[in-house]
Amino acid sequence: MTAKNLDGKALASKIRQSLKEKVSLRTAKGFNPPGLAVILVGQNPASEVYVRNKRNACKEVGFHSVSHNLPKETSEKELLSLIGELNADSSINGILVQLPLPNHIDENKVTESIIPEKDVDGFHPYNVGRLTLKMPLLRPCTPKGIMTLLAETGIDLVGKEAVIVGASNIVGRPAALELLMARCTVTVCHSKTVDLDAHLKRADIVVAAVGIPGFVRGDQLKDDAIIIDVGINRLESGKLVGDVDFDSASQGASWITPVPGGVGPMTIASLLENTLQAMEIADKKG
Ligand code: GUN
Repeated sequence: MTAKNLDGKALASKIRQSLKEKVSLRTAKGFNPPGLAVILVGQNPASEVYVRNKRNACKEVGFHSVSHNLPKETSEKELLSLIGELNADSSINGILVQLPLPNHIDENKVTESIIPEKDVDGFHPYNVGRLTLKMPLLRPCTPKGIMTLLAETGIDLVGKEAVIVGASNIVGRPAALELLMARCTVTVCHSKTVDLDAHLKRADIVVAAVGIPGFVRGDQLKDDAIIIDVGINRLESGKLVGDVDFDSASQGASWITPVPGGVGPMTIASLLENTLQAMEIADKKG
């Protein structure tokens, strides 16, 4: 059997179209569009691409988009001061600081300085706590995008064995909380996991988020598993590949996300959804 393509590019495009319509209805009534501020510190080439894609997506759906490109020498104090200004700016509903930050800046401090109502990345301890307690508000974008993709398969997730490879704050941990909330049995594997193969072999759903090209191979997988590949790795040849060896994995899987065109566009679509949600939260507060 060959896996069906779980097409994030097409689904994200549908989501953007629907958001665009909501924004035009709103602006036609004389209200402001949702506003997103994206901050990039330094010149990490991968981050530059992600940030450009986020800003372009904002423009496409008619959001108010504010860009701050800061030099890599920016001090923590300067960054916190900018975030303070954006926290107080009523035209801004979402604040995103692209990670990783230069080593001299404490990422946790920065994450906590964004007020939870504008934390469209869902990284603030308040939003992580809410997700942990099954009362999510703003949800981390990549795991949220993964759940939207899984819903597209039409497969009932209740009771499924979900194995996540990678325990990062951005993907692995919040993906575990999302899948647990969907009532999967969840295992989080990481670099110290003793027998990764044993875990993978019984997984109905695999989420690979380790940042190593082709790390998960088809021979490690259970037949008919759903494979979600979060990796975006650029090979020396320039080719973009995921953390899953696509050719071997797609032989026995039921569904698989391609790279590019799988999880990546869904992360951005979720960010846009979160920004609209943040605006609705702000509207309610009045
Ligand atoms: N770096 C890699 N992924 C992300 C993300 O989803 N949000 C932010 N802010 N930084 C990232």
